[in-house]
Amino acid sequence: MIMDTNPFKPTFGQAPTFLAGRDKFIEDFVEGLENGPGDPNRATIVVGPRGSGKTVLIQEVSRQAASLGWITVSVTCAEGMLDEILVLTRKRGSHLLDLPPQSRVTSVQAAGFGASREVVPVRTTWRSDMEDLVDGLNEQGVGLLITIDEVSATSEALKAFIIAYQHFVTEGRNVALLMAGLASKVSSLLLDDEVSFVRRAIQRELGSIDLADVELAMLSTVESSGRSIAPKVLHEAASATSGYAYMIQLVGYYMWRQRPQKKEIDLADVELAHEQALHEMKRAVYVPTLREMTRREAEFVGAMAQEGPVTTLHAVAGRMGISTNNAGKLRRRLVERGAVGDLGHGRMAIEIPGMGDYLKAMDADLSY
Ligand SMILES: Nc1ncnc2c1ncn2[C@@H]1O[C@H](COP(=O)(O)OP(=O)(O)O)[C@@H](O)[C@H]1O
Ligand SMILES: [Mg+2]
Repeated sequence: MIMDTNPFKPTFGQAPTFLAGRDKFIEDFVEGLENGPGDPNRATIVVGPRGSGKTVLIQEVSRQAASLGWITVSVTCAEGMLDEILVLTRKRGSHLLDLPPQSRVTSVQAAGFGASREVVPVRTTWRSDMEDLVDGLNEQGVGLLITIDEVSATSEALKAFIIAYQHFVTEGRNVALLMAGLASKVSSLLLDDEVSFVRRAIQRELGSIDLADVELAMLSTVESSGRSIAPKVLHEAASATSGYAYMIQLVGYYMWRQRPQKKEIDLADVELAHEQALHEMKRAVYVPTLREMTRREAEFVGAMAQEGPVTTLHAVAGRMGISTNNAGKLRRRLVERGAVGDLGHGRMAIEIPGMGDYLKAMDADLSY
């Protein structure tokens, strides 16, 4: 069947057959791991819109770190994440650590002596427990990489984590941290003085991928699965993606699917694929994003689209016929949910690639 052999993977969080254009990022991060404590790359925060490839990048970096002997723990930012990090570190490192029993023993019969010993629970904290684990790993020459996906500035657990992690770093422990999130969620984190450590972390924007890299990844994916594509057609396919990671998989998936029994993928396949990919973007990204919005919020992004790719609050308020103050409230809500990116100095943009064009084509007819 077609489905079984299609090598493109248009699914969020699913690693692609060939990763396009992340070599430099991965190289820098891995170099940081090898350089030892103090290397700036060891605290990196990746920022990008939905579908730009953040989750997949975290997975790839974790995989490479693990192959270098690192213990890696990957979590999604949520209230229970501190426990998760502790439990997973203990589990992943158990073969290297001399761990005390986890059960709550109140008395132990020492065999042969008939004496009983009370094991009194010692008061401890998350940070102190983590320190013990990290020290245990470090003593074996092993580092700990923690990755946190979908970071949110409003998460108290994340703040608590960062404050503790900051101490691990200043105390010279062999640790590394990779975080990822939407620009809007990360930018408010950067303003928070409690976690000023994040400001000093390396920030990497997952912008659009170089089309030459897209071509290479698409070509490798097609050829490694036994089909071919001419350079001109390949070029067309890569352009259709605008270098947006999710679109690479969508365009690839649909161009493969047109006539899977034919050896060569041609221009007609790519043209149909482009249409279907945009349709899928509409279904999987644009419409759900708009549905999460109130009518007023949807009107706001509609007005943004009419104004152009980068616009100002003032212009949008004017177009909507509302006060700048009310427009500001709408913007704040949209920034929080990751639909609008705040570019600073009053400028803003729709954060999801292609969504502006989609809204513009609808001619502001946002009647849902
Ligand atoms: N570098 C890349 N090259 C090709 N495809 C990619 C790349 N990064 C991600 N993808 C694909 O894009 C889609 C979205 O990736 P994902 O990591 O889930 O995005 P995000 O976490 O930013 O929302 C997935 O289908 C994935 O296979
Ligand atoms: Mg993700």
